[in-house]
Amino acid sequence: MDKKQRCKTGIEELDKELNGGIPSGSTVVVAGSSGVGKTTLCMQFLVNGVKMGEKGVFFSATENVNMLKKFQGTYDFFDEKLIQSNQVSLIDLWSISDRLGLNPENYSYDEANILFEVIRDITKELGAKRLVIDSITSLCFRLKTREMIRDFIFKLGSSLTVLNCTTILTSEVPPMVFQFSQNDIEEFIADGIIFLGDIARKGDLLRTFQVVKMRGTAHSRTKFVLNMSSERGIELVPMLKKTL
Ligand SMILES: Nc1ncnc2c1ncn2[C@@H]1O[C@H](COP(=O)(O)OP(=O)(O)OP(=O)(O)O)[C@@H](O)[C@H]1O
Ligand SMILES: [Mg+2]
Repeated sequence: MDKKQRCKTGIEELDKELNGGIPSGSTVVVAGSSGVGKTTLCMQFLVNGVKMGEKGVFFSATENVNMLKKFQGTYDFFDEKLIQSNQVSLIDLWSISDRLGLNPENYSYDEANILFEVIRDITKELGAKRLVIDSITSLCFRLKTREMIRDFIFKLGSSLTVLNCTTILTSEVPPMVFQFSQNDIEEFIADGIIFLGDIARKGDLLRTFQVVKMRGTAHSRTKFVLNMSSERGIELVPMLKKTL
């Protein structure tokens, strides 16, 4: 697979690790416990995409759009103009459910289908090449059976592959466990898994980053330290180079 078929994340060490980026059109689960940097990583992925001429859609099922803008606005990489110009479109579960007349607490099979079609159609109409769903855990919580969850993720992944849109699904897991989802479904349907973890060290709680699976890519499973700063957002530092 050459570099043109890769979706460059703009996060330097990750792109190196993935031989240029995520295979375009893949669905990748980014799993981790609360506060490990899932939302920030996803927003940075979309903003970096705009710099490479690719539009993005951020579908939030954990925070409403105003809170998302407020929190992400503390990073230098975040530029409100990208939102105003629809280079990055922010949508939240509550406003879209309201517009579609759906109950955001519990979706029937037909309602879940409507939601899937709307996400797909928005992505298609905008010509977006990057989609984030943050979090798939929160969205799946509203789908009552395992079949509905499997069906939703499978349909979403396959229809976005056809659009050559690279999708990140964030997944919430408990702290200090090596686990990729709460349903044990998402990670098997996804083409890739990135795990964000924590390590307690000298009174600090370091964030870690690891590619666990990426179909179509020879990659290591090296653990990186994930640093977050207002100035640079997320940066990865190979663990062995860091003095612990
Ligand atoms: N401007 C900033 N600069 C550096 N670090 C920040 C900044 N703003 C927030 N943080 C750190 O990022 C953390 C939140 O990151 P983020 O929201 O990406 O995590 P998350 O994995 O999405 O969490 P959740 O599961 O709760 O949604 C905060 O707890 C804080 O430690
Ligand atoms: Mg988050």
